[in-house]
Amino acid sequence: MSKKTLTTTAGAPISDNQNSITAGERGPLLIQDYQLIEKLAHQNRERIPERVVHAKGWGAFGTLKITGDISKYTSAKVLQPGTETEMLARFSTVAGELGAADAERDVRGFALKFYTEEGNWDLVGNNTPVFFVRDPYKFPDFIHTQKRHPKTNLRSPTAMWDFWSLSPESLHQVTILMSDRGLPTAPMHMNGYGSHTYSLWNEKGERVWVKFHFKTEQGHAHFTNEEAAKVVGDSRETYQEALFGSIEAGHYPRWKVQVQIMTEEQAATFEHNPFDLTKVWPHGDFPQIDLGVMELNRNAENYFAEIEQAAFSPSNVVPGIGFSPDKMLQARIFSYADAHRYRLGTHYEALPVNQPKNGVHHYHKDGQMNFMGQKTGHVDAYYEPNSIDEAAKEAPEYKEPALPISGDADRYNHRDGNDDFSQPRALFELFDAGEKERLYSNIADAMGGVPQHIIDRQLALFDQVHPDYGNGVRKALKG
Ligand code: NDP
Ligand code: HEM
Repeated sequence: MSKKTLTTTAGAPISDNQNSITAGERGPLLIQDYQLIEKLAHQNRERIPERVVHAKGWGAFGTLKITGDISKYTSAKVLQPGTETEMLARFSTVAGELGAADAERDVRGFALKFYTEEGNWDLVGNNTPVFFVRDPYKFPDFIHTQKRHPKTNLRSPTAMWDFWSLSPESLHQVTILMSDRGLPTAPMHMNGYGSHTYSLWNEKGERVWVKFHFKTEQGHAHFTNEEAAKVVGDSRETYQEALFGSIEAGHYPRWKVQVQIMTEEQAATFEHNPFDLTKVWPHGDFPQIDLGVMELNRNAENYFAEIEQAAFSPSNVVPGIGFSPDKMLQARIFSYADAHRYRLGTHYEALPVNQPKNGVHHYHKDGQMNFMGQKTGHVDAYYEPNSIDEAAKEAPEYKEPALPISGDADRYNHRDGNDDFSQPRALFELFDAGEKERLYSNIADAMGGVPQHIIDRQLALFDQVHPDYGNGVRKALKG
């Protein structure tokens, strides 16, 4: 067995890692014991800021295999038939802090990073196809209602229902959250959704709109509130145990990958705004097309380095995949990289877990902790344009087709003429009697301590989805 010598961070051997240097056997410490100071100083810097949302998470590596053929819609190499791409997934709850219990009712994050040969493609979705708000102007307000009250330092059902009852566009997501699927038993037992409308474009410069879906092959499984309370009493780490344990045991979770496609012509006549994140595209009108399989088959060697330091961003797209006018997506294109620069530092993309596998060539320069040097292809190429043949150059063949945009710049009321009720109604009508009863009682549980005028305002919204919905919750509140 090879014996490794313990060293300082500067590489010098350490002779004693047990006893500090003191002046005399019982005397005070000497400041020259630099290794003692180094250990304490490093410890003080072990924590980085937790994610402002989605702080508690569980992740693993795997592969995406493309078995379907959507090559007529997209030139993206990662989506071509037969392609296999290494990937990373991180699942999370939204509201809880880093030490929160796993089995809590909340939306789950479903963040994916595909290390494609054309750069990293990140799909940063949830286990729900829609979201609580449709204008990013309201995202920080919404998140405040999910986090702690400034004075009590407790989470506040009053704040949540006050906001939701004043935001009818939240009804669809609130209904999913309070349904069985709002509390999955483990990450393997839930679907994932890219949620937003993205675009696909091909070499002819044609664009279609697309939604991505990841359907669990393990089957849906949920806890009731009562079951979850018991589970949390036994262990706060059930998702980590389940996902990590399953992969260690060689049971690799899989998801069927599907897309829905909408042409630009269909978008113009769709009954809803196709870029509204509070809406789905009905499967009957926009069928699910099988695209491939995602499998998770490798645990991280170091949770902090590979899962905590993972930086997912909807801004990471690759040629053949593009954004859409979805306002929420547009804001997220800014927000995530900004969060990473704060949470991880300027060169977060150079961390091994975030590093593209195809190599990068860019002209950004210097900055804290820059250990990469300049990788533009030539030592003199630190500006662009330049006349150095070996230096990295733009590649016009990757140009995305132009997107026509028109209209007056204004603050348009996103609630005007928007139907917030028919899709929650379609969902409500999918539930069987047992699911409806659990929906009512989950909502009643979640309304504990909320002032009556807020409850009444929310009940009036449920009534507009379906009279049975409002009345069911009314009854559960009394019971
Ligand atoms: P479909 O009957 O074709 O599809 C119903 C969808 O609902 C399925 O994807 C199913 O997921 C999902 N579902 C079932 N139970 C729940 C639940 N408790 N919470 C969330 N999703 C659930 O209907 P439509 O496409 O016409 O949509 C009807 C409603 O279904 C929508 O208003 C929406 O609320 C919901 N839905 C629709 C999706 C879409 O992309 N069209 C996606 C997810 C939900 P699974 O296939 O895994 O069983
Ligand atoms: C995490 C912002 C909406 C899914 C985050 C983070 C920020 C953020 C700042 C922390 C990032 C980090 O520190 O690494 C926003 C903003 C939104 C928005 C501004 C709306 C305007 C959404 C939506 C979804 C979503 C609609 C899903 C469809 C996620 C996920 C994570 C996350 C999955 C965790 C990623 C990970 O595992 O590292 N969000 N978010 N967010 N968000 Fe959002």
